[in-house]
Parts: sequence; C-alpha cells; structure tokens
Amino acid sequence: MGGWQSHSIQAAAAVQPIAKELSKPSYALSVLGMPGLTAYAGLHILAQAKAGDVVLVPAATGAVGGTVGQLAKLAGCTVIGIAGSAEKCRYARETLAYDACINRREGDLREHLDALAPNGIDIYFDLVGGEFLQIASERLAIGARVILCGLMAEYNSSTRAGGPPPGLWIKARAAVHGLVVYDFEPQRDEFISKYLPLVGRGALTVQEDITQGLEQAPAAFGRLMRGENQGKVLVKL
Ligand SMILES: NC(=O)c1ccc[n+]([C@@H]2O[C@H](COP(=O)([O-])OP(=O)(O)OC[C@H]3O[C@@H](n4cnc5c(N)ncnc54)[C@H](OP(=O)(O)O)[C@@H]3O)[C@@H](O)[C@H]2O)c1
Repeated sequence: MGGWQSHSIQAAAAVQPIAKELSKPSYALSVLGMPGLTAYAGLHILAQAKAGDVVLVPAATGAVGGTVGQLAKLAGCTVIGIAGSAEKCRYARETLAYDACINRREGDLREHLDALAPNGIDIYFDLVGGEFLQIASERLAIGARVILCGLMAEYNSSTRAGGPPPGLWIKARAAVHGLVVYDFEPQRDEFISKYLPLVGRGALTVQEDITQGLEQAPAAFGRLMRGENQGKVLVKL
C-alpha cells in the first residue's frame, strides 16, 4: 500500500473502508487489522488452539505476538511468552495476562522452557526463526502445531539459519504451517466481528507504539528492529 509517503493513490477495489464501529481508526492497523488477523489466522484457523494447550510466543509484546498471547489466553491456553527485557516481561504477565514470560537476554532459554513446559509445547507461534525455532522444535508435545510466521532474528543477518532437522517434527507428529496473512482476507470480517466487542469492553488490550511525523519513520523502524517497540509501530501523519 504505497511506501513511506504522505499520500497514495489506489484503485477503489484494492482498498476497503474501516469498520465504522471502530472507536479509533488506528485499530484497523493494529489489534483489529493485519497483525490481529495474523494472530487469529495462525492461532485459530491453522493451529486450532484449544483450552489446555501450552502456547509459546516469541516477540510476546509485539504487534502480532501480543495479540496471539491474548487470544490464546482467552481460549483457555497456558501461554508462555519470550520478550527482550524484564520490563516487557512484566507487561506481558501483568497487562497481557501471559502465564509466564522469559527474558531472552537473561539465562538459558532451554532451561527456562524445560522448567515452564515440562510436558512440551503444543503450539509454537514462530515470529523470529533462527535458534528459537530450533529450541522450540526440540520441545514439542505430541500433536504439536508450529506456525511459521516471521523471521525477526534473521532479517539483519547476512546468513540464513539452516532450520531444525525435520526429525524433530516427525517425532512430535507436528503440523507445520507457513502463514501468509493475505490468504485470510475472506476471514477478516469474521475476525473483526468476533473481537471488536472485546476491544470495546477492554478485554483485549490494544498495543500501539505511535510516532508523530513521517520524518520519524526511519527512527521508528530502527526501534522495531532493535526490539525497543511495545506493540504495533505506527507513524501518525
Ligand atoms: N507471515 C505473515 O503474514 C506476517 C504477518 C505479520 C507479521 N509477520 C512477521 O511477524 C513478525 C513480528 O511482526 P510484528 O509486526 O508483530 O513485530 P513486533 O513483534 O511488533 O516487533 C518485533 C519484535 O521482535 C523481537 N525481536 C527483534 N529481534 C529479535 C531477535 N533477534 N530475536 C528474537 N526476537 C527479536 C523484538 O521483541 P523483543 O525484544 O521483546 O524480543 C521486537 O520488538 C515479523 O517478522 C513480521 O515480518 C508476518
């Protein structure tokens, strides 16, 4: 949809009006927009989350991850997040209702996961790729679902991680899904009508990291890549 620019001309058929029930138009870019739909599609349509599932979410307080965590909790799952600071982890537990959150910059992720998910992970919602995908794949429960959605750990790297050996997924009888949110456009209305009331009554926390002015867009993007954002990064014009 255009680039980093103040105006963009699009064919009418390529755009859609924002649902008029949204109290803030920015929600159409965050919790009830592309990141929210990504979370819904991965968690509910592909992974078929159910009560009791142990769900692991990296980038746990980000635009997609923060919504995955909240939707999983609403579905009765046990939700473990991974985030980049103690402060983000506190937010994940206290505001987003994660059951536990691991600071990825402290201690050994393997040991934390063994302690928090001794019976394995039922759903790994991968937003980062790299080593975390390997570590999570080593700890899958039988019948696990792995959602391959993002590669935050790899975008700035000149080499690509090889990926976990398929034997780990075979052993767990895992279903591994690649997710591209644009495939779920037909489910957008269903998603909005299910979750709009929850946003309205505060049962779904909206996380937006808003920067003012187009000239600040590169700095906002830099903060996202360094993990300094909290929620969907938006630039207000
Ligand atoms: N497949 C699709 O259709 C689809 C749709 C939407 C988004 N995505 C992808 O999903 C991912 C998340 O997107 P988002 O918009 O929700 O971003 P985001 O979570 O708001 O921001 C990215 C977060 O990733 C974490 N991170 C950064 N570098 C990392 C590293 N080296 N290792 C581990 N974590 C790291 C940081 O959080 P911490 O510092 O707290 O760990 C950072 O805040 C992106 O890769 C995006 O491209 C894919």
